[in-house]
Amino acid sequence: MTRSPSSVGKPQNPVASSETSSSAASEVYANSSIPPDSRAIAVSVDGLSKTFKSLLRSHRALHDVSLTIHEGEMVGLIGASGSGKSTLLRHLTGLVTGDPDSGAITVLGSEIQNAGKLSGRIRKIRRRIGFIFQQFNLVSRLSLLTNVLIGRLGGMPWYRSCFGRFTRDEKRMAMAALDRVGISLHAGQRAGTLSGGQQQRAAIARAMIQGAELMLADEPIASLDPEASRKVMQTLRDVNQKDGTTVVVCLHQVEFAKRYCPRIIGLKDGNMVFDGPPEELTMKILQEIYGAEADDAGIMDTITELPRSGGGGEPLSVPPSVLAN
Ligand SMILES: Nc1ncnc2c1ncn2[C@@H]1O[C@H](COP(=O)(O)OP(=O)(O)OP(=O)(O)O)[C@@H](O)[C@H]1O
Ligand SMILES: [Mg+2]
Repeated sequence: MTRSPSSVGKPQNPVASSETSSSAASEVYANSSIPPDSRAIAVSVDGLSKTFKSLLRSHRALHDVSLTIHEGEMVGLIGASGSGKSTLLRHLTGLVTGDPDSGAITVLGSEIQNAGKLSGRIRKIRRRIGFIFQQFNLVSRLSLLTNVLIGRLGGMPWYRSCFGRFTRDEKRMAMAALDRVGISLHAGQRAGTLSGGQQQRAAIARAMIQGAELMLADEPIASLDPEASRKVMQTLRDVNQKDGTTVVVCLHQVEFAKRYCPRIIGLKDGNMVFDGPPEELTMKILQEIYGAEADDAGIMDTITELPRSGGGGEPLSVPPSVLAN
């Protein structure tokens, strides 16, 4: 059984494929005390390497990366520019394939790729994964509501998707999702006229009504101001905690990763160099992860010990009021 986007309103999600076994369980996991590592596995990467080859050069972007993410986890992926964050995320949806001698990637119980070959069922698996990009990826001339409804297209019969015919229930579901991310008042507005933060929350609403059980977000707050960033991260946290959706989010902003992600994975030059809770992400490790980049562009200013419940710690580059729940 696949997740019904119950939290965004009835009815059941017909996007669901019968092979899914985890979503009902993940709803049970939401806000539960079941420790993450005793839950079902949402993402498994085993010995993934990726080399980009061109006429002029060959660059190994990922080196033998192995990791396991359990259902209901919210994981922040950090690392300097070019460390391989986006490449890793794109492998999880099969947008990129690993090297031929690479290991397997399994997502939500289905193999996505193995030894550099994509699974034949990739389209079916992708419907269960929401991908949120830095640049929102909305159709700017369409209304916000229509943009969210686009999340339903993947599971529609072709004759309905060709004409973009949505049922009343689907529209209700999209409105409920917009309401949940706090922008339903703008439902009829052209997406292009909304602020970046509003557009990003609409992109999350679209993944919600898609019924995504895994949300992959690639720098969703990179172009937003701190307040809009906080709202977007809060929306992702809400989806994670209330629906049990597994979230993997690439972030440049270490404070936000520490604040919102109970688990952080650090990449450096394509190698996984850190995997643990924010408390263990010391200044020394951050300096190791960011290397020379730590001194550039004020990154050292952002690498501060963030108190998780107020008090103590060094000054933050983002005011605590902005990060507060
Ligand atoms: N399609 C491609 N062809 C060639 N090289 C690529 C391709 N995609 C990524 N790379 C290279 O792989 C490395 C990792 O890139 P990636 O985009 O994953 O880094 P990143 O950690 O997401 O960086 P950023 O923080 O700047 O987004 C970089 O050196 C990049 O130039
Ligand atoms: Mg990137």
